[in-house]
Amino acid sequence: MPTPTPADKFSFGLWTIGYNGTDPFGGPTRRPLDVVYAVEKLAELGAYGLTFHDDDLFAFGATDTERRAQIDRLIAALASTGLTVPMVTTNLFSAPVFKDGGFTSNDREVRRFALRKVLRNIDLAAELGARTFVMWGGREGAEYDNGKNLRAALERYREAVNLLGDYVTDKGYDIRFAIEPKPNEPRGDILLPTIGHALAFIDSLERSDLVGLNPEVGHEQMAGLNFTAGVAQALYHDKLFHIDLNGQRSIKYDQDLVFGHGDLHNAFALVDLLEHGGVDGGPSYLGPRHFDYKPSRTEDEQGVWESVTANMRTYLLLKERAAAFRADPEVQEALSAAKVDELSRPTMAAGESYEALLADRSAYEDFDAGAYLDGKGFGFVRLQQLATEHLMGAR
Ligand code: GCO
Ligand code: MN
Ligand code: MN
Repeated sequence: MPTPTPADKFSFGLWTIGYNGTDPFGGPTRRPLDVVYAVEKLAELGAYGLTFHDDDLFAFGATDTERRAQIDRLIAALASTGLTVPMVTTNLFSAPVFKDGGFTSNDREVRRFALRKVLRNIDLAAELGARTFVMWGGREGAEYDNGKNLRAALERYREAVNLLGDYVTDKGYDIRFAIEPKPNEPRGDILLPTIGHALAFIDSLERSDLVGLNPEVGHEQMAGLNFTAGVAQALYHDKLFHIDLNGQRSIKYDQDLVFGHGDLHNAFALVDLLEHGGVDGGPSYLGPRHFDYKPSRTEDEQGVWESVTANMRTYLLLKERAAAFRADPEVQEALSAAKVDELSRPTMAAGESYEALLADRSAYEDFDAGAYLDGKGFGFVRLQQLATEHLMGAR
């Protein structure tokens, strides 16, 4: 069984292992988890990073002294374990003040308060050496069409992110922002519902180079989308700044299961993409492998630590399986029969004009389109079966 080490760059949200089991139908099934203990356990289990929202570390409305005490306890725990804080994020969704969102609340005073809360938290992120600042706008949305002017909401969101970009630039912070899309929950509809919507929004920003994505497996799958395909597009645009790994079983509420405990085929394709999707077959993403899941409320504390290990182990097993898949000569042959590499070849020859294309009889007049009826199959099914057999450890 592969053993996780800090070199694997596995990180966990404090709110993930600290999830006490509360859901809309029932209260806690587990006791609160102290941050120092959480850091020690994560280090012991082979993780390298802890991430958190401000309100995970100190309560909303904590005094400056209480806030500082918790930060200092965290810093001491990091120093004694070697764990890092690669990402920080802000809670703009739990407190009643954010019931209509933070950056896009209809209430301007709430929007100004939200900006202040985030600016303060960016200072904390910089103090802890975090390089990524995640923005998940779970409350930035609406239930009804008439109560929210979406054009204005997008404009206010843009105003907020532009201001944050100015702030980190002026302060000289080495921090980039990662927007996390989600289609719904807690709002009926969330403002930036998918990777594609967020990419278009990022393109509209003044400092768009500072802003990328933090896509989450389950969030795209809640919208019926192919997560790995979305990540491939984010990579294509150089916007995969961070990633939230977890599991989701089909279109329903956000399950936040352990990574791989959902669509395992898509998880396999994802790990293959992250580990081998770069130029020369190397990794396409070098950042933290961050797990944003919720240990099921059926589990006790021991189950929480087992689920931490489960996330990392599944990732490493899929990484092993993906390497074996790539190295298999039969897979190589099936990939080439499926012309997977041929798609990387430009459709036009270097310098070829449309006049040359029009003059090329082999491209049209002499081309045998009929040969594709019951011929020239691509063999994608065979390839998928080979992947399945590798995934199952049968090859
Ligand atoms: C969710 C989200 C959140 C965010 C986190 C970061 O499951 O809806 O993943 O957990 O990732 O709050 O702000
Ligand atoms: Mn989620
Ligand atoms: Mn997430």
